[in-house]
Amino acid sequence: MSRFFFIFMTFVISTVAYGQKPKDVKLSEPDKTGGKPIMQALADRHSDREFDSKELSVQDISDLLWAANGINRPDGRRTAPSALNKQDVDIYVLTKDGAYLYDASTHTLKGVAVGDHRGLISGRPSNTPSATPPVGLVLVSDLSKFGANVADRAFQMGALDAGIVSQNINLFCAGKGFSTVPRMSMDNDGLKKTLNLKESQIPMLNNPVGYPKK
Ligand SMILES: Cc1cc2nc3c(=O)[nH]c(=O)nc-3n(C[C@H](O)[C@H](O)[C@H](O)COP(=O)(O)O)c2cc1C
Repeated sequence: MSRFFFIFMTFVISTVAYGQKPKDVKLSEPDKTGGKPIMQALADRHSDREFDSKELSVQDISDLLWAANGINRPDGRRTAPSALNKQDVDIYVLTKDGAYLYDASTHTLKGVAVGDHRGLISGRPSNTPSATPPVGLVLVSDLSKFGANVADRAFQMGALDAGIVSQNINLFCAGKGFSTVPRMSMDNDGLKKTLNLKESQIPMLNNPVGYPKK
């Protein structure tokens, strides 16, 4: 095989892989029962940066995403409040198989990019296997949803809205026995490219989620 042909094939294969999307995943109905009482979840809430390698089930992921920012009323409003009810925060889900966008209206994971992109939120260069969570949630605010009238405060509103979604995740994890930590450290440029974000979509925070390390 000529060197030119080898380079050409490498280019073709990597281009095809880059553009590939994983299949959409229809999540099961969220289980809105169970977990600890709210005061006990608050008492147990803490940041945890190490995770067991045990995978979350589809039901776990369904419950987690609904708690984070799912629809909880017939008019389409969410478990997390948002400034002006603009619902600007999207949750991207990173697993070992791919990156997905949580579509709250259909309670579905929409495939965005194949491959394991969890390294984009791994935090520290000295990342250890126990620091790699089964699931990484990236909270992305689309500032364009706020419109021109409040453009001077759009970033503030987007950051606050993401913080509230993150706290829903923190409390869900405390209440259901999962580990998590809210983090600002992440590879923003890498995420924008991999998740195909618009200029107005800003990754604000991420929450890795997994079972506690044994
Ligand atoms: C906005 C925000 C950004 C944070 N960013 C990071 C981060 O990049 N890396 C990290 O390890 N922890 C991060 N944390 C977690 C804090 O370090 C942690 O909440 C704090 O040390 C208090 O510990 P506790 O959560 O157990 O109460 C962040 C927390 C918040 C609220």
